[in-house]
Amino acid sequence: MPLEPLELYRDQHHACLMFSDLIEEDGQAVQANQFLIVDGDTGAIIDPGGNLAFNELFMGMSRYFPPHRLSYLLASHADPDIIASLDRWLSSTRALLVISRVWERFAPHFAKLGKTENRIIGVPDGGGLLPLGRHELLLLPAHFMHSEGNFHFYDPVSRILFTGDLGVSMTSGAEARVPVTALAPHVARMEAFHRRYMVSNKVLRLWTRMARQLDIAMLAPQHGAPIMGQQAITDFFDWLDGLECGTDLFDERSYQIPTARIDPVAH
Ligand SMILES: [Fe+2]
Ligand SMILES: [Fe+2]
Repeated sequence: MPLEPLELYRDQHHACLMFSDLIEEDGQAVQANQFLIVDGDTGAIIDPGGNLAFNELFMGMSRYFPPHRLSYLLASHADPDIIASLDRWLSSTRALLVISRVWERFAPHFAKLGKTENRIIGVPDGGGLLPLGRHELLLLPAHFMHSEGNFHFYDPVSRILFTGDLGVSMTSGAEARVPVTALAPHVARMEAFHRRYMVSNKVLRLWTRMARQLDIAMLAPQHGAPIMGQQAITDFFDWLDGLECGTDLFDERSYQIPTARIDPVAH
């Protein structure tokens, strides 16, 4: 049985919930978090995930408002662990998919023919403000962190920044429920992922320059534990500023005609 969703924020009209263990931990699929923002009698799902998470997330959401009241599916980018369940969400709700314009015409491949008609908001590279209930969410440019068309979502009520694949750590669903408040011991769990999945240090630095202007209580990534509190968040930005990653680390040695044999049996 999955655990109850973790309440990251709650007041009378507004709540942010994190689901961290909807995927069976058999080691094949990476642990992933899905988020639900509730405002009054509507809400948005952030990075709904693959088919593995759909049923539990749908039931969890139904406890807060009727499914037909769901306003949006917010997709930080178009990876399978982000929106492979798109077809089922479009069938079961009236929500609009909010995704980068870069992916707007690729996302329909996740759904049956015609199902995405008038159901996709393609966000321009500059991002924008999106009304949700009585408030607005900030769609924040995060291109190349890691995907070519990538957005993060800032909720000014809870002051949570939902960062998709940025700030992720490799943990179990239970461990992901314990927010990180000191960065140093956490770096080892983030480093390998960020070195390979983030595109370049230039992009990381452009992004931190923007993000430092926001009042952030928590960073909530799509895998692993949230990063919470002023000190840990500042330390995280500083760590990104100095991190070499992606194209910084690739050179001619990375592009050689391969000679290693891949064994299809003992792979
Ligand atoms: Fe991704
Ligand atoms: Fe991911």
